[in-house]
Amino acid sequence: MAEPSLIEQIIASARWAPSGDNTQPWRFEVIDADRFRVHGSDTRDWCVYDLEGHASQLAVGALLETVALAASRVGHAASFTVDAQAPDTHPIIEVALRSAPDEQPDPLGNYIERRVTQRRPFSSRPLADADRQALESALPAGYQVLWLAGSRNRWRMALLLFHNAHIRLTIREAFEVHRRIIEWDATTSEDRIPDRALGLDALTVKTMRWAMQSWERVQFMNRWLAGTWLPRVQMDLLPGLGCAAHFVLIAERPPEGIAARLDAGRAMQRFWLACAGRGLQFQPAQTPLIFSDYARRGIRFSTDERALRAAERVRGRLVGLIGEENLVNAVYAGRVGYGKEPSARSVRLPLERLLQR
Ligand SMILES: Cc1cc2nc3c(=O)[nH]c(=O)nc-3n(C[C@H](O)[C@H](O)[C@H](O)COP(=O)(O)O)c2cc1C
Repeated sequence: MAEPSLIEQIIASARWAPSGDNTQPWRFEVIDADRFRVHGSDTRDWCVYDLEGHASQLAVGALLETVALAASRVGHAASFTVDAQAPDTHPIIEVALRSAPDEQPDPLGNYIERRVTQRRPFSSRPLADADRQALESALPAGYQVLWLAGSRNRWRMALLLFHNAHIRLTIREAFEVHRRIIEWDATTSEDRIPDRALGLDALTVKTMRWAMQSWERVQFMNRWLAGTWLPRVQMDLLPGLGCAAHFVLIAERPPEGIAARLDAGRAMQRFWLACAGRGLQFQPAQTPLIFSDYARRGIRFSTDERALRAAERVRGRLVGLIGEENLVNAVYAGRVGYGKEPSARSVRLPLERLLQR
């Protein structure tokens, strides 16, 4: 077999960037030996969490940061040019590589493949100062971390996640997404999330799998069997309490426009990789930010009026926790802490599937 080219090596690493529900909204077109294009896309036509493509744009930003780090690992510097003509639904970014043998590789590049999402509870041991500082200093200029630590804040955040999850588990729009993105009876998944990485016990997974065969079953479970309780306790309440701290990444101004969201995605990925570098577990909790943004801007993300009102309440809780101004500048949220690595994880599409010929 032929040796992989420089570009193939870089893309093979960069494809480990995270994306919402492991959708990998990117494909690659090689132009010549040191230039290629990233063709982004989004999932707005089917994903209630991505109705304007914002989550996908963050993911493409994370991919670009990972390209830069993967290039630095092999002695190159990457520069990016966003095609101003391309629509926001299909951003195109041209990447140019230049040999930079004298530049020190960025150490965050060592954690590209090790960075992972852990959805189970972590230890509640507080973050050591050195770890907190390492995470903060991984962020580029223009971003800061707002920490929600201590038992009172963790309780407030865990309850917020618990309430927020009621929306996810009771609207048909989210049911259709979950049905599509969970791979059942799996420890790894190339293009979805394996059920064993959801953070549920085996019996709850089994019940959920049965229920998710049809919307009628989900509605029946929710109405008569308190069907949202166990998943919400296991996926939201206990993990919300089981962490060192929750965090919100805050930009200097509201992240409006594709350039701002690509930039925010780059910051998010640096923060996440820094966690991996310090041996910290990490889980994003992006849906409270997404629903509260929909609520603020009057986006009717569901036909269920109760869910629209619930999103208003999630927004109210977030305002109570971090303040109105931080909330409009917030780009990413989640929790971090000490604990075991997950035993199941999303993997990625093979390089051949990602390259456009
Ligand atoms: C923009 C974005 C939003 C995400 N939101 C969530 C979330 O709300 N909850 C969650 O558990 N994981 C979330 N994830 C994590 C993805 O599901 C995960 O990165 C993807 O499945 C790949 O798995 P890996 O991170 O283990 O490699 C998000 C990731 C991205 C990039």
